[in-house]
Amino acid sequence: MTDTALVDAQQAAAATWWRQAAVYQIYPRSFADADGDGLGDLPGIRSRVDYLAELGIDAIWLSPFYPSALADGGYDVADYRDVDPRLGTLADFDELIAALHERGIRVIVDIVPNHTSDRHAWFQEALAAGRGSAARARYLFREGTGESGEEPPTDWESVFGGSSWERVADGQWYFHHFATEQPDLDWDHPEVREDFLKTLRFWSDRGVDGFRIDVAHMLTKDFSEPLPSRAELELIPQDGAHPLLDRDDVHEVYAEWRRVFDEYDPPRTAVAEAWVSTPERRAKYASAAGLGQAFNFDLLEADFDATEFRTVIADNLAQAQASGSSTTWVLSNHDVTRHATRYGLPPLAGRPVKQGTEWVAAGGPPDGVDLDQGARRARAATLLILGLPGSTYLYQGEELGLHEVAEITDGERQDPAFFRGGAYDGLGRDGCRVPLPWTADGASFGFGDAVAHLPQPRWFAQHAVEVEAQDPTSTLSLYREALRLRRLLQTGEQLDWIETGREDVLRFTRPNGWQVVANFGTEPYPLGAPSDAVVLGALLDDAVPGESTVWIAPAQLLG
Ligand code: GLC
Repeated sequence: MTDTALVDAQQAAAATWWRQAAVYQIYPRSFADADGDGLGDLPGIRSRVDYLAELGIDAIWLSPFYPSALADGGYDVADYRDVDPRLGTLADFDELIAALHERGIRVIVDIVPNHTSDRHAWFQEALAAGRGSAARARYLFREGTGESGEEPPTDWESVFGGSSWERVADGQWYFHHFATEQPDLDWDHPEVREDFLKTLRFWSDRGVDGFRIDVAHMLTKDFSEPLPSRAELELIPQDGAHPLLDRDDVHEVYAEWRRVFDEYDPPRTAVAEAWVSTPERRAKYASAAGLGQAFNFDLLEADFDATEFRTVIADNLAQAQASGSSTTWVLSNHDVTRHATRYGLPPLAGRPVKQGTEWVAAGGPPDGVDLDQGARRARAATLLILGLPGSTYLYQGEELGLHEVAEITDGERQDPAFFRGGAYDGLGRDGCRVPLPWTADGASFGFGDAVAHLPQPRWFAQHAVEVEAQDPTSTLSLYREALRLRRLLQTGEQLDWIETGREDVLRFTRPNGWQVVANFGTEPYPLGAPSDAVVLGALLDDAVPGESTVWIAPAQLLG
């Protein structure tokens, strides 16, 4: 290769690192607490960079660490270009990025553009400036209905439950998709658009490699009068012209963002959190002229079922090919019941994913909860998705095989979804946000010197990093080995199915001969291949045991 060709190849690789990356999501307040106040922080993450490097991930995604009143776990941002003083300083952020980059780990940060916190300077200004002011025009203020405007403008419900309108002292109402402390911005306002470009440059200049865009499908709205009622709203198709969701005009925003991303070398990447109605609509967010990639949440909503998995995998690979993006795989994040617990519950059969916590807390649903089965299936599903083309997003604690924590009293809960009783049914999302156990004992299992901000159950001791790191059969050891092998085996973005003659067994091969065999059933699946070719997972009498996955690879791929 000539020098120029080598440089070109290196540049191309740097620009496409995200296509098949393993990205580890950190929920900063619950990862590691360096200053002993019970809340995780940036220096805490910095102190665990070796752990992240050893885990073998390609990038981390940091959930919000910005100044916040924590009305929604940090997704209520009071200042987009600073660090919450309880979590550190901008200097701590710079040090963290430098330490991660030194280890070859890239950094994605969360951008929350749909709404600010009610503590944001703009919203405070809007409250003070009064109706009709320029400051109110950055948000969605409207007059109420009823004789003296005492009723909200519409009967719409917010995602977390209750009205999506809140009244302010002078009688006007403002719109909020989520908690009352999260007023929605008006994305028709040029200052709003300008300010986010500034934020994207601010973090890109500090060396951030990419962005995760919170509720990317909600930003633009059509609030022209008359506003429809809730019943009318529900009948409007989500095909690009819905007043509130997944509007076509949101892509003008992302086209502008793309121009900013492309000012950098390598271009900054982005992944959309877009809960939209069809794979085709999702592809718009993933387009190269827009954010470039979009989360695929289909597996979050699927049961541990070979047929469902196969359909989801095939559909998403086809869609990724059509859009030119690469797909993403997600089994857990900070918004849903951990997959080790989900897979121990009876089939979802259409019920919301979140009901898991409530059932576990109640000692199980009528059909029972089997946590060991859940853990087994979670390992099998994770090994399956790590073998797929595309990028994988892992959520902190899943590498320890953590279950959802149900032992949180009402008084200890923090999630607004629990208090308002909206879309996240039951107990809300705190159960997957409990601070990680690093050691088997100590005030907070090594999370920090103080008691953690959400209670850690006693069983966390068994899952502590120091315990699992010593045990070659632990979930942590499995994740480390899988991520190490994945780096060696990762290849082109194709997949060919191998028919197994079994409805409950999926088997596929990647172009270089790396095979993944996932047995979703309980009957062993005879492999019909030399067992020394199995590089990950264990056989029993030359068969893949029930509820497990193995990887097969030609020796030369392992160097
Ligand atoms: C996203 C986040 C969730 C948050 C919501 C509002 O769905 O993942 O945690 O509550 O947006 O910002």
